[in-house]
Amino acid sequence: MVKKEGLFRVEKWLKREEKPLPKGKKRKKDYRDRKTELYVLDIPTLETLYKFSKRGIIKALGGPVSRGKEAVIFHAIGAEEEELAIKMYKISTSNFHVMLDYIIGDPRFENIKRDRRSIVFAWARKEYKNLKRAFDAGVCVPEPIAYDKNVLIMEFIGKEEVAAPRLKDVPVEVLELDFDLEELFWRIISEIKTLYNRGRLVHADLSEFNILMKGYEYADINAGKIEPVLIDMGQSLLLEHPNADAFLKRDVKNIVVFFNKLGLTCSEAEVMKKIKR
Ligand SMILES: Nc1ncnc2c1ncn2[C@@H]1O[C@H](COP(=O)(O)OP(=O)(O)OP(=O)(O)O)[C@@H](O)[C@H]1O
Ligand SMILES: [Mg+2]
Repeated sequence: MVKKEGLFRVEKWLKREEKPLPKGKKRKKDYRDRKTELYVLDIPTLETLYKFSKRGIIKALGGPVSRGKEAVIFHAIGAEEEELAIKMYKISTSNFHVMLDYIIGDPRFENIKRDRRSIVFAWARKEYKNLKRAFDAGVCVPEPIAYDKNVLIMEFIGKEEVAAPRLKDVPVEVLELDFDLEELFWRIISEIKTLYNRGRLVHADLSEFNILMKGYEYADINAGKIEPVLIDMGQSLLLEHPNADAFLKRDVKNIVVFFNKLGLTCSEAEVMKKIKR
């Protein structure tokens, strides 16, 4: 039987926030909004998490790793003590019109209801499926574990509750001094290529913001043990999508521009040719 202390810990903590304040003290006006904005643990999401815990997928829920407009990411511990990342899409603030545009062109998601909840749920399922496809094709992405409603569970990229930094977060001096930039660049391009040729997918939101540098905090940087991991694949597209090529070009451009700023001189055209070969 899986222990539920982790979830209860969070529930207790939520309750503590609800306790009445001492006489004369006023609660900050927006504290309830802030709470959901920070942690989105609304009741339906808590219920979904609870279901995951009953299925033995989550043993304990940790703290938030990141919060954005569309989703928040929490750390968690799985049944085998493995570290997990839980991505919870927000129902109320997600830009579901944009999501709908991406979903409509995808044959995997025909017959989806057009209301906000259904679209956000389809989006979480889409990200799971995209990650699965990429993972099975051998691309460096977090291994997807499960999804339900607006919640996606995947492998945690990082260690001891600390997420690996994004490529964007690695200081320029470190990139310039400790990395073989050319090698790192081509490693990222080769991930895009594998995703394209074996996974038949285009990331469609790739940039230094959506690449995590796995092993950065612990490895000897010179040992070349750091692996760039592509994340955030909700919007990724099958090659059959009419805009796939335009998105591939944009992904490549973002990476080329980032590395050329650091002193490389690669051309987008050359990279595109290599990917499609
Ligand atoms: N599998 C993971 N392991 C560790 N950290 C992760 C993982 N997935 C996401 N993160 C952390 O959460 C952040 C946001 O994740 P992601 O890019 O998937 O969300 P997003 O859709 O961009 O959300 P936002 O609305 O914040 O833009 C990442 O930059 C990273 O720091
Ligand atoms: Mg992102």
